Amino acid sequence: MAKTVTLTIDGKQVTVPAGTLVLKAAKKLGIEIPVFCYHPKLDPLGACRMCMVEVETPRGNRMMTACTTVVADGMVVHTDTEKVADFRKANLAFLLTNHPLDCPICDKGGECVLQDNVYKYGDPHSQYVEPKHHKEKHKPISPTIILDQERCILCWRCLRYLDEWEDKPQLGRFQRGSNTVIDIYPDEGLTAKTSGNIIDLCPVGALTSRVSRFHYRPWELESTPSICTHCSLGCNLRIDVRTNEVRRVVGRDNELVNEQWLCDKGRFAFRYVHSPERVLTPLVRKDGRLEPATWDEALTLVAERLDAIAKEKGGKAVGGIGSAKLSNEANYLFQRLFRTLVRSNNIDYRDGADVAALPTGIPSIKSARQADVVMLVGLDPDEQMPVFNLFMKRGVRRNNATLILANPRKTELNRYNGPWLQYRPGTEVTLLNGLAMAMVAEMEKSGQGSKQGARVREWMSGYTPEKVADATGVSVEALKAAARALVEAQKPLVLYGPQVARGERGKSVAAALGNIAMLLGGPEHLGYMGLDANFQGARDVGLTPNMLPGYRPLDDADARRRLKQLWGEDVADEPGLTYDGMLKAAAEGSIAAMYVMGSDPASEKPAFKEALEKLDFLVVQDMLLTETAKLADVVLPASSYMESSGTFTNVERRVQMAPAALKPLGSSLPDWEILKALANRWPGVEESSGKKKGKKQKGHKPWRYNHTNDIFVEITKVVPMYAGFDREITLEGVQWSARAVESPVKLQPVEFDEPQPTEEFPLRLLADHLLYDGGSMFRLSEGVEELAVKPSVFVSPKLASSLGLEEGEKVNVVSPNGRITLPVAFDDGLREDTVFVPYSMEGAPVEALLDGDGFAFVRLEK
Ligand code: SF4
Ligand code: FES
Repeated sequence: MAKTVTLTIDGKQVTVPAGTLVLKAAKKLGIEIPVFCYHPKLDPLGACRMCMVEVETPRGNRMMTACTTVVADGMVVHTDTEKVADFRKANLAFLLTNHPLDCPICDKGGECVLQDNVYKYGDPHSQYVEPKHHKEKHKPISPTIILDQERCILCWRCLRYLDEWEDKPQLGRFQRGSNTVIDIYPDEGLTAKTSGNIIDLCPVGALTSRVSRFHYRPWELESTPSICTHCSLGCNLRIDVRTNEVRRVVGRDNELVNEQWLCDKGRFAFRYVHSPERVLTPLVRKDGRLEPATWDEALTLVAERLDAIAKEKGGKAVGGIGSAKLSNEANYLFQRLFRTLVRSNNIDYRDGADVAALPTGIPSIKSARQADVVMLVGLDPDEQMPVFNLFMKRGVRRNNATLILANPRKTELNRYNGPWLQYRPGTEVTLLNGLAMAMVAEMEKSGQGSKQGARVREWMSGYTPEKVADATGVSVEALKAAARALVEAQKPLVLYGPQVARGERGKSVAAALGNIAMLLGGPEHLGYMGLDANFQGARDVGLTPNMLPGYRPLDDADARRRLKQLWGEDVADEPGLTYDGMLKAAAEGSIAAMYVMGSDPASEKPAFKEALEKLDFLVVQDMLLTETAKLADVVLPASSYMESSGTFTNVERRVQMAPAALKPLGSSLPDWEILKALANRWPGVEESSGKKKGKKQKGHKPWRYNHTNDIFVEITKVVPMYAGFDREITLEGVQWSARAVESPVKLQPVEFDEPQPTEEFPLRLLADHLLYDGGSMFRLSEGVEELAVKPSVFVSPKLASSLGLEEGEKVNVVSPNGRITLPVAFDDGLREDTVFVPYSMEGAPVEALLDGDGFAFVRLEK
């Protein structure tokens, strides 16, 4: 049992674990001690002296800082003496000496710790008559943060956060005494991707958001607890709204998910909700032009046309693309509409069934934080999930974890200890088979030989370290070091992402990773990290062509019977097409109509755009007039997730609620309401008033959802792993058990015929996601423009010099699939045979170059 100690604070006894701070022991008794520099997520510092208390000692009472003093048995503490009160008054008076007292125009006014502490503990009379020192005001220290040095009380919370969590001490202390200021270092910027957390941490208004500054007074805001939908981590946040406009986004505590941290995209990129590019009224194509229409006109047209095409050509002639950025409720209704009314299983989403994901995402965020060795394959959390990146860095620095990075490009995590497997893109299977073989060798060397190891050796004996090094470019030493680290680990975890999981190549990569997991002890050592906010939930609720909700096979008679009972309709039984498959079928003419909800395939590649142009009928349901919407026959304006309520399931299968934070803008409607209205206009739907007396009706059952809660209740009946979940999900969300579905991870021989470069296309193309990309949610968010990465093709300086390329010079990147034109940017974290083009670069979609495996060989043309 952990040792406890008993002490007395203000005459009351309290027992707490040994090592507890006096501040926390007092809190347990409900005794408040004022603080400035103390913060539960930062190491204690004892800088501000605001928390001084009197502690009895054999040599009389001593003033001590409650935030750094550890409790002792028999300790007697006083927090309410005259001496303590005087000390607090004096301390506050000192802090106010040079404070500008510009509270009326300070964003922090009303929620400022300095204001509150002065109000509660300060002296009402100032003794200072001298002129104040003036320091720099409203100084931009990054594209998103402003510093007012005069307001700073030098608590160092900001410095400590950047040091302790980001490992980027990008703010420093300058000058001395009363001239001390915090500032950025000359010629260096504040570039940490979670820098905005220092705004939340700052107890005063010294650090404010450039995006939200002067847009609100805190007491005027209506706050809604919500989650972030920029990535799949599902960080908890709060949306603050005034006059139906989002004014700011701040972090919200959830120890199990994001602690309280947000990345800067999640915090600052929210104004897309109010973008002038929003579509706020239904549009119907008339004489070749999209014209405003009523909801009734648009929905009736969609229902009648889709029904007519499905009846004439069969449900398989209609395709539905949903979205991993939308809620469980929206995607659930979408697949229900397709499976029952359109009678088609052609339903999928980008990075859906075309990607070899695991049905269970990652084991848990906690397990990733506690792992002693984490191998990241084709993942760059700094660019894709910055809060998860914080946890990885914290793991290395606080828990001595080792990171193994299998990535063709150097990432921020490369500055830490572990081996870097910088392989040639396209050689993943060779690398992973070679790693499995090297692990077996390490296991045998240390006397841990096993049956599984013997089978791997039997299947993969050709993957010697030397051959693997030759094919992949990864040195024998790095491969062996990675194998050794994995074999010696107590709690190893391997995570992979969509970069390496697409198409046939992806299937082999996932299988090869499965072998590594089995050598490590089982499927629980492997996780898949999709990137979109609801990639997991979309699968869970059945937005896949080959599985019913809850991962039930299409031909599962029991599941079909249950669905028929609940939905009152037969469920389409013919296997459907994937996202890529549908667009290919549209190009070939076998799909005549499509319904695209919250996705924009036309912006990805010319071939997709051409396929969509061939359709007889295209419906787009979206917030924006996307490239796909511009081709549509009908555009149904959807509200953003902030205007609707819904649940999202994050990367660790945690179902979290995002209630509506504002009313739908214009005539837009939440996705679920559009789908419900459409289903209830479907030809043949029974009168929604119910059965007529004495007559048995045979039409489609009307949908009777009044709120997303009704849909969620239905999901809990249809998706077994959600059974029993209450819509009033606690603020922590609820996680479904990874044991609820059968894992596909097993030991198996894996071979993949890896393509080779040719003289015509000698370079390997790496396509991956960057945080500040040209995706619409980021691009349309006012105030974050300066963060955006310029569309570029990244090459190593060596490759550039061998090709005679200058930085900034425009080149054509050409693959057998297409070409795009981009300026050259240098990246010394790339191999000489690899070029890197990020996804979602405006005007230069890398998808135009890629094959179905998300890979291509290219050449650069001047
Ligand atoms: Fe503290 Fe804010 Fe000053 Fe940083 S800027 S030292 S967080 S008061
Ligand atoms: Fe204890 Fe600052 S809160 S010294």
